[in-house]
Formats: sequence, C-alpha cells, structure tokens
Amino acid sequence: MNPLIALNLKAYKESIGERGLALCRIADEVAKETGASIIVAPQNVDLFRVVKAVSIPVFAQHIDWNVPGAFTGSITADAVKEAGCQGTLLNHAEKKIALEKIQLCIELARKGGIKTLLCADSVDEAKRIAPLKPDFIAVEPPELIGSGVSVSKAKPEIVSNTVEAVKSIQNIPVLCGAGVSNGEDVRKAVELGADGVLLASAFVKASNPRAVLLEMANAARQ
Ligand code: G3P
Repeated sequence: MNPLIALNLKAYKESIGERGLALCRIADEVAKETGASIIVAPQNVDLFRVVKAVSIPVFAQHIDWNVPGAFTGSITADAVKEAGCQGTLLNHAEKKIALEKIQLCIELARKGGIKTLLCADSVDEAKRIAPLKPDFIAVEPPELIGSGVSVSKAKPEIVSNTVEAVKSIQNIPVLCGAGVSNGEDVRKAVELGADGVLLASAFVKASNPRAVLLEMANAARQ
C-alpha cells in the first residue's frame, strides 16, 4: 500500500462550506495526478456534498455511539455510510471518547460498513486501542498538534514505538500526525515505519494548499 495521507479539515473557518469543498477537490486532483493515497475528512455537515464531488475516500471526523433512533444531534455510523463515506476518524485529541465508547463505535462502524481511523495521543493509548481492531491507528502527541513542528522530526521515538507496539498486537496500519508540514516530514514518518500521516493545518491553512499537498504526495511515493 502507498503511504496514506489523511487530511483532517477540522472546524477551521478555512474549511467551512465551499472552502472545504474546494480543499477536497484539490486533494482529489492531487491523488489523481500523483497516484498517492489520500483521504479527506471534511466537516460533518459537508460530507454528503463532498462525496458527490470527489472520488477519493471521504471520512467523517467523528461518529457517536448511538444506533439510529431518538438521539437528537447524534451522528450515527449508518448515516455516515448512507452519505457515501468510507469511514470515520474517532477519538481525536480534540474529540476524545472513553475506551468503552470507542469499542461501541468500532462495532457500530463495522456493522454499518464503514472503516475506523482511531487516534491515540500516546504509545500507551495506541496499545489500549489496538486490540479493538480498528482499521487504522494514528498517533498524535497533543502538544505538537497545530504547532508546525512534525512529530516525525521532534519525537521520532513516539512514531517508531507506536508502530512496534501496535504491530506486535495487531497488523493494523499506523499513521502519525501532529505538526506534519511538508514532504520531508512525510518521508521521515515513512522511514520510521509509519504507514502514512494524518494532518490538518499545514494543508487547510496554507496559502497554496495544492503545492503543499503535491510535495507531500510526491514524498509519500518515493
Ligand atoms: O488530525 C490531525 C491533527 O490533529 C494534526 O493537526 O494541524 O498539527 O496537522 P496539525
């Protein structure tokens, strides 16, 4: 598998509505141009229209642990699937949920036919999550999120230790994220054994998001 580039558009003003859609179209074009594996996680309210506009996988940023029913405001795995998404992020450092809820969400996602990309804020959390068999795990030290300083450069041991720990439990692709900003950061992540990267601000807030993503996509393929 090509190293994966997962783009979390978060709730930035730069990724609301039409601007988020434009970013997802850029990701789609870069994936086609380079052959890189890219997924996008736009804001939840935009999922349906993004799915209609791109051919790369679209993930939600979060689901809740409810089955369909009287749960006002909940995002169900079934609704995310029906919107045409292939998966969901879960337990992001900015949207943490308890381990038993993670387990429920993974089960609901599996039943609903969507994949799960589980975030972990440490090697230890990744070890607790791995036995639940999500489809991907992404380790992201919270202190580097949005910092512009890549985990793969600043804390390489977190990446390599997570890869080693997770693979000794389950053969799950391991991504790393927090501060990933350029092609060099992606290359370093892959050298450390990561199966890809999860990033947000370097792409969403870039003055030229296409150029940033192209550089990362080319680095991921080398
Ligand atoms: O989910 C991606 C993330 O938390 C990392 O954010 O802005 O450091 O790429 P950023």
